[in-house]
Amino acid sequence: MHKAFACLFLFLILFSSCQSPVDSQNEEATTAKKSKTVGTQGDAAAHSLLYPLDPHSFSEPNGVVVKHLDLELALDFDEERITGKATWAYEVLDSAAKELVLDINGIAIDSVTYDDGSEAAFLITEDDPLLGQRLGVMLPLLEKQPITIYYTTQPDAAALQWLPAATTADKSHPFLFTQSQAILARTWLPCQDSPGIRFTYKAKVAVPDGMLALMSAVNPQKKNVKNTYSFVQDIPVPAYLMALTAGNLKFQAIGKRTGVYAEPSVLAKAVAEFEDMERMLEAAEALYGPYVWGRYDVAVMPPSFPFGGMENPILTFATPTILAGDKSLVSLIAHELAHSWSGNLVTNATWNDFWLNEGFTVYFEHRIMEAIYGRDYSEMLAHLSWQDLQNTITEFMKDNPKDTRLKIDLKGRNPDDGVTAIAYDKGYFFLRLVEETVGRERFDVWLRNYFENNKFQSMDTERFVAILEDELLSPEEVKQIGVHDWIYETGLPRNCPKPNPSRFEAVDVALQLFAAENKLPEKEKTAAWTTHEWLHFINNLPKKLKREQLAKLDNAYGFTNSGNAEILAAWFVPAIENRYKPAYPQMEKFLHEVGRRKFLMPVYRSLLANEQKELAKSIYKTARSGYHPVAINSLDMELAYNK
Ligand code: BES
Ligand code: ZN
Repeated sequence: MHKAFACLFLFLILFSSCQSPVDSQNEEATTAKKSKTVGTQGDAAAHSLLYPLDPHSFSEPNGVVVKHLDLELALDFDEERITGKATWAYEVLDSAAKELVLDINGIAIDSVTYDDGSEAAFLITEDDPLLGQRLGVMLPLLEKQPITIYYTTQPDAAALQWLPAATTADKSHPFLFTQSQAILARTWLPCQDSPGIRFTYKAKVAVPDGMLALMSAVNPQKKNVKNTYSFVQDIPVPAYLMALTAGNLKFQAIGKRTGVYAEPSVLAKAVAEFEDMERMLEAAEALYGPYVWGRYDVAVMPPSFPFGGMENPILTFATPTILAGDKSLVSLIAHELAHSWSGNLVTNATWNDFWLNEGFTVYFEHRIMEAIYGRDYSEMLAHLSWQDLQNTITEFMKDNPKDTRLKIDLKGRNPDDGVTAIAYDKGYFFLRLVEETVGRERFDVWLRNYFENNKFQSMDTERFVAILEDELLSPEEVKQIGVHDWIYETGLPRNCPKPNPSRFEAVDVALQLFAAENKLPEKEKTAAWTTHEWLHFINNLPKKLKREQLAKLDNAYGFTNSGNAEILAAWFVPAIENRYKPAYPQMEKFLHEVGRRKFLMPVYRSLLANEQKELAKSIYKTARSGYHPVAINSLDMELAYNK
């Protein structure tokens, strides 16, 4: 960091002022007129801007925007640091712009140079607990030569989880993975960390002996003796899709374009679980157009991976908790694959438009699942979505009704606050209503064109609505659907479609019998139930249960010892609410082994809501160090944890 000060003096002479992101963005609004107009119909100030104003980034892309990255990284597992050399090629959109502005968060900048090797003046300003710092690098005076940043990440970089060998499946090598979405790429790479800004990249990554490195790019399939790996991503991607993982990983193909990377002991199980991946890819292409990314592979992460899956281009990262042994949780793969269109091709302009990424993806996910496993199956998924949505709407309408809008305002907040069933499931049901209103044929033709016409571009809600109304819906249909209400109003419109899966009918009968007469569903009937029927059953058990009732259920169906993480996480909720103690040892074990936020939150929350705060805190105290910073961040708040 000391060199920052060395350059400060020079920098202050050359720069007239330092601007806050808001001021400078307003200035952009007036100075960037030279840039091409794309007719973004959002914020009036953004009207003539090529790049959207993003409340979560300091970068000023309407002045200078990055185009290509050449990255060299060395991974140091002992120090838990990455040392990096990032060379940015850029384009100057505003001839008055003097600096390239990048986002960083906790990265130590060692030096910055131009292509000819001369030192570049730079200045680090702002220090926002959420957004990090603004790194302004002065442009070279004559030619617009690329700018190279030499840097080192901090051991607590929020995108990174460094796992000691002992916590991996094979316990032979340490493991590293990144999670950049939403605004964490800046903790391991100085970049313009805004989803509206795309760039191509090449990278070289040096790792310790015996490890393979992988990125969201064309990947090696085998280890080499040089311990250095090269990557190319020729399609421009936003920073949140920058991804890196390294560990004792092995590859096995599934189909021509699909395959799995995992630790050796996990590989066979993962390949068996994901055997339908090639078919999913074909089904997706048949629905909404060619897959442009080349290969589609999945890398299985350690259990502490904070999400179910992350749609890193070419290489989805996935939690091992979907390896249920019966393919029952593979809709998650369909989901991440669907992001190859919704999200990775057509990208939310800012995190306020996050529903465009996730709502479309849930819709597309269900269509892929329907194509492969049938409508009965996808309707079960849709119903589980529906129920999540109902619960979320009820909960949010009490305290923060504004967050039930599809288009939300996350300025000044963590974009993680937008990761709720609203973006996913309200978004899904809105699109499903549109589909049901116009009929599938018309809808599919339109959606296919939407991806084709808007690929490699960002999309905000306003432009999306304009396209929908211009290209698909008649004025009567717009009215009938209530497009505006769905997107901009709180709550859930009354015309929300309700799936009614035939496979849940038997479950509903069983639930009634259990509630009214304390009768367990018969074994012959439940024998054919899949994970989804069981989830529907557990989620809809009566709120108040006697411990004997829970014991009866547990003895009959073995929930506490289920090998299925979804079932376990669902079961621990009524177990905690009714203090069914025989489930507690497994619950504690689960909280120590699994770091997937979607599972952790409801379990900790039920403990807190049911006067078991001390237990929650004592489990968290020992489990916390095994969680990813993303999960820690959410849980520290939930549990009011003091470091
Ligand atoms: N892109 C998301 C994960 C994400 C969202 C990470 C926002 C960080 C910020 C991913 O595609 C996702 O939605 N994962 C879900 C999968 C599920 C809906 C099938 C998850 O992790 O649970
Ligand atoms: Zn998603």
